Amino acid sequence: MSKEYDKLQTALKAVREITDFEPEIALVLGSGLGGYADTIKPVCEIPYSELPGFPVSTVQGHSGKFIFGYDGEKKIVCMKGRVHMYEGYEPSDVVMPIRLMGLLGAKILFLTNAAGGINESFHPGCLMLIEDQISFLVKNPLIGPNIEELGTRFPDMTRIYDEELCRKITDKAAELSSELFKGVYVQLSGPSYESPSDVKALRLLGGSAVGMSTAIEAIAARHMGMRVCGISCISNMAAGITGEELNHEEVQKAANSVAERFVALVRGSIASF
Ligand code: HPA
Repeated sequence: MSKEYDKLQTALKAVREITDFEPEIALVLGSGLGGYADTIKPVCEIPYSELPGFPVSTVQGHSGKFIFGYDGEKKIVCMKGRVHMYEGYEPSDVVMPIRLMGLLGAKILFLTNAAGGINESFHPGCLMLIEDQISFLVKNPLIGPNIEELGTRFPDMTRIYDEELCRKITDKAAELSSELFKGVYVQLSGPSYESPSDVKALRLLGGSAVGMSTAIEAIAARHMGMRVCGISCISNMAAGITGEELNHEEVQKAANSVAERFVALVRGSIASF
């Protein structure tokens, strides 16, 4: 058994000593979506700090815990807060919670994040369905001995974001008359925001939105066969587009201001999965 898998099994055992809840759907609550957790019927909460070997977030406003509960009929596990590569963690540590949620039983992973808009037809506060991603600018989370128990050495990434889930989210947005753009998410390591030239380069590469999470989580989830979908909340236009400087507090405030619409779309979509 690999060291990474060993660590996962230890964390899994620690969770199973607390709850036998088997989630169907795993959700990562990015900036602006934290309020979703208040809408579910909770069963149990586990702070990451209680799980041996688990990475713990160091960023203010990113409190870290799993929340287990019911959204209507659906059995959910939420990650409230995630760790990022810019905190100094290896990509394989960053994706540990994703893998754990998969091992707990989740077949679907719903990713959310705040991101900077690269596509100039976006506007701050809009939502973007992630149709594909560019991840090669950050280290791949599968580097290292392959965890055979989870998946194959060279997993296919032709269709990372599940077509049927994407369609259901699109339909739900239409039903709610909620504007929903579509595009390609690019992950960079951060923590600095991009320069205007970075943003131009990312646009030439085909990116629609840029952020500091998500793509490696999606890779780890696909590696173990989970079905993946995701929505970015465009909290700001990426650097150089409006000429305004970016700061974390403003980005968080903007993400929070669309929270209600974001939560409604996520909840509606989950009910239709
Ligand atoms: N760049 C990178 N990450 C982000 C941004 C951005 O402009 N906004 C929110 N997360």
